[in-house]
Amino acid sequence: MLTATTSLLRASGDLPTASIHGCGLTFLHQMAESLGRAIDARDPNTALHSEHVAELSLLIARNLGLDDHECNLIHIAGHLHDIGKIGVTDAVLKKEGPLSTEEQLEMRCHPVIGAQIVAPVGLCATTGGIADIIRCHHERYDGGGYPAGLRGAAIPIGARIVAVADTYSAIIQNRPYRPGTTPELAMAEIERCSGLQFDPDVVETFRNTFCHGRVHVALSYAGIPASFPMPDVDVARKMAWPS
Ligand SMILES: [Fe+2]
Ligand SMILES: [Fe+2]
Repeated sequence: MLTATTSLLRASGDLPTASIHGCGLTFLHQMAESLGRAIDARDPNTALHSEHVAELSLLIARNLGLDDHECNLIHIAGHLHDIGKIGVTDAVLKKEGPLSTEEQLEMRCHPVIGAQIVAPVGLCATTGGIADIIRCHHERYDGGGYPAGLRGAAIPIGARIVAVADTYSAIIQNRPYRPGTTPELAMAEIERCSGLQFDPDVVETFRNTFCHGRVHVALSYAGIPASFPMPDVDVARKMAWPS
């Protein structure tokens, strides 16, 4: 599918620059959504996780005041953040108990594998863009993450955003080894890790959107009905992707 994406982007070379950009990004988004569902389908326990991360990342990016293009790239990176798990064996990916040291090392390869998978797509390869976000989504703000141990602003802002969205979605979803928590407990855990695992500015923005009910609205876009009445808010997701 990546070959088809690249071919179509190349085939659009005769169009004016603005059209190339728009068409390419729209197509890339559709492919990213499709590939995100593919990786989620490998593990039924993580259904819709990639869609969650895409929607929440877009919500945070918009509320941080990033420009439309950056928001688009971060949204697409959210769909694709775990695409590298295609390169992780089922024995490790679907293991229900704790991972051994060797298994952890294999699992920790998925950000780099994912970045390598998307790198041939020109729109993914910009500095701080989709490939970099995928590579850095398990870096920690305090420098204790992987694969490179980057710290603070050295981590692309998109990756700092996806890290929060990824963790929130993972905490609220059921897993074979534990039930999902309530949104409030998940939010409390994100705040507990502010300045350690997560960028404090990103956490503060996420907290503000959470308090206004927008996190629940964003998740409803990902196919999860809100568990309580939908708040009457100006939905942060202003962008309508052309079909
Ligand atoms: Fe999307
Ligand atoms: Fe991941």
